[in-house]
Amino acid sequence: MVNIINGKDVSNNLRNNLKDKISQLKSINNIHPSLAVIIVGDDPASKIYVNNKKKACEEIGIKSHEFVLPSDISEYKLLQLIEELNCRDDVNGILVQLPLPSHLNEKAIIEHINPIKDVDAFHEINVGKIMTGNFEFLPCTPAGIMQLLDDYNIDIAGKHCVIIGRSNIVGKPMAMLMLHRDATVTICHSKTQNLSEICKTADILIAAVGQANFVTADMVKNGAVVIDVGINRNEAGKLCGDVDFERVKDIASYITPVPGGVGPMTIAILMKNTVTAAILQSKNN
Ligand code: GUN
Repeated sequence: MVNIINGKDVSNNLRNNLKDKISQLKSINNIHPSLAVIIVGDDPASKIYVNNKKKACEEIGIKSHEFVLPSDISEYKLLQLIEELNCRDDVNGILVQLPLPSHLNEKAIIEHINPIKDVDAFHEINVGKIMTGNFEFLPCTPAGIMQLLDDYNIDIAGKHCVIIGRSNIVGKPMAMLMLHRDATVTICHSKTQNLSEICKTADILIAAVGQANFVTADMVKNGAVVIDVGINRNEAGKLCGDVDFERVKDIASYITPVPGGVGPMTIAILMKNTVTAAILQSKNN
């Protein structure tokens, strides 16, 4: 029988723990965690993500500041806003919702965020720290996946973990976190040859492709752990992941659903990173 990994439950536990921690930080240490979220333009998916982040912050006692900027904002103006937020003591975390309109240089903008406020862990300093294992912030989605595996007591050391997708947000940092936990890691991507055969050797298969039903049952080993990072819409407009859930669930030992698997964890880790940022900054002052 397959175990369906319940990301909502794990996320709720983490958020409740954070809520208690924040209330202690406020009353005992006078630390009031806060997050600034910048959204450029009116991409509907980004708007939903940002609203969910704001709501989650408010629920557990993190103050959120939202900056909605027009899609034709100049790079200079956006950098100026980041500079301002870098200097503000009442802002602990800065998140620029991606993707950005094409006239803006995403890399330059991320590199402008003070690394100690970079709660996405996208800044090159934080990326480097993830490589060496000496990190304060973990990238939200990969860290959320690690938390799910740990909560379900899934062994990682010595296992073959196959990751489909090599993005800076998910695939690459995921590989590092798995490596730090002694997994043997393979990263597959659009140019990978024999992708199905490689996936079939995975003890832990992580799909971060962005294509509905990309992972089919014939690509999955009996008893594998299958983690679905995708958020897609199928032909009927229904939310679905990258994995053919209905068929793969009969083969896997554990599987994450979409929605209700990895998604809720990403936001919970963002909250955790914001609390970490607030504590770190209070020590630096
Ligand atoms: N767009 C999609 N996922 C993310 C994320 O984790 N952080 C930011 N800033 N933008 C995103």
